[in-house]
Amino acid sequence: MFRTIITEDYDLVSSEAFKVMKEVVKKGNAVLGLATGSSPIGLYKKMIADHNANGTSYKNIITFNLDEYIGLDKDHDQSYWTFMHENLFNGIDIPEENVHLPAGDVEDEEAECVRYEAELAKHTVDLQVLGIGSDGHIGFNEPGAPFDSVTHIMELTEQTRRDNARFFDDDIDNVPKYSITMGLASIMRAKQIIVIATGANKADAVYGMLKGPKTTDCPASVLQDHPDVIVILDRAAASKL
Ligand code: F6R
Repeated sequence: MFRTIITEDYDLVSSEAFKVMKEVVKKGNAVLGLATGSSPIGLYKKMIADHNANGTSYKNIITFNLDEYIGLDKDHDQSYWTFMHENLFNGIDIPEENVHLPAGDVEDEEAECVRYEAELAKHTVDLQVLGIGSDGHIGFNEPGAPFDSVTHIMELTEQTRRDNARFFDDDIDNVPKYSITMGLASIMRAKQIIVIATGANKADAVYGMLKGPKTTDCPASVLQDHPDVIVILDRAAASKL
């Protein structure tokens, strides 16, 4: 079931997301599912500010990230490991052993998918943070990814690689072609989910998620079956609703 919040700008979107996050982290020992990309950066800034101002502690919080590029070692400046440390983990008091991301620089990526899914399955994610791709992907579950998928290897679409070229010197050839991602079934196990989307280039994907047919052509439409999803949008992302 969706609850949709539409606000004026990105800062208000981030504030709404932070309100939901704060309710969960204040319990002290929550499990968080986290995303990278532009959408959650404002939320992560507010988490760091709240940690600094109010001492909200992450010592007993456990995190699982959605995905990682295959072929980038964790110290690469565009790895999602680096992103998460620069944008969140280095600013809060979470112990490194509580942080989980798939490793993109292993020899056996299939084995890494099995290892990651097994680690994730030991926990129940209390709150999963999602962005959405302009092609409707969540995590890196691109169109066609099965709704019953668990952590798997996914070839990125041309659209996604074009969208993400901005992080790779605007050169699509620098963007990795494959990723390891939690599957749609892995994501759906979370107790609560927030989806953050801003900007007109997300409007079609947002429409597909909320109002379109439930189809693997729009992976985010799987969320129509989840009992507790809060979708936080600016007016541009909500413009096709
Ligand atoms: C990131 C992820 C992706 C992004 C999506 C939107 O971990 O899994 O699904 O959330 O590509 O990216 P941004 O927020 O950069 O528009």
